[in-house]
Amino acid sequence: MTGLFVTFEGGDGAGKTTQAVLLDEWLTAAGRTVVRTREPGGTEVGVLIRDIVLHHRGHVAPRAEALLYAADRAHHVETVVRPALSRGDVVIQDRYLDSSVAYQGAGRVLASAEVRDISLWATGGLLPDLTVLLDLAPDLARQRLDADDKPFDRLEAEKSEFHSRVRDAFLGLAAAEPERFLVLDASEPAPEIAGLIRERITPLL
Ligand code: TYD
Repeated sequence: MTGLFVTFEGGDGAGKTTQAVLLDEWLTAAGRTVVRTREPGGTEVGVLIRDIVLHHRGHVAPRAEALLYAADRAHHVETVVRPALSRGDVVIQDRYLDSSVAYQGAGRVLASAEVRDISLWATGGLLPDLTVLLDLAPDLARQRLDADDKPFDRLEAEKSEFHSRVRDAFLGLAAAEPERFLVLDASEPAPEIAGLIRERITPLL
């Protein structure tokens, strides 16, 4: 059995966690060992980095921010993701390098290709076998986030124009690599989305 690396991407409020849990349950019931993890913050070091990038009040230089996400990713891939894949596990991960390209690139300060290259360097070139993009219009995502009681982090608090650029960036990435991406309408009911993900993953198992 070989390992499988599945990542979930999309804006905040798109339902990534719900789908990651459903996929985990389905694969576990089918007898696979699943490692469910996330970025930023999938390791002890990562939790510290996550605190800086999401909760630091005040300006963080865009290049520093991009490097912090890449540092989190480098440590996470080396200590969690690659070991799991070599054991033959399925890694289900909330966010990966496409988030860096979409979010850090959408700030308009950094070139997307540079952001991607930094992540590829950080991870030794590890790309997911499948990336599920849960696509949702930013106004719908905002309604979902407003319904939650959690206070907004730095990125959630960005203007809606920023979130539209993030969404467009994700869709552009998916269009450029259709063999890696599965793009789904996140406004559909969760069980339906889960079914489409299972269909796409079955031949990869
Ligand atoms: P996430 O863990 O999905 O947030 P939450 O737990 O609050 O639902 O992601 C945190 C934020 O980090 C999200 O707004 C996107 C951002 N992010 C980047 O900007 N670049 C990155 O490389 C990653 C992984 C996340």
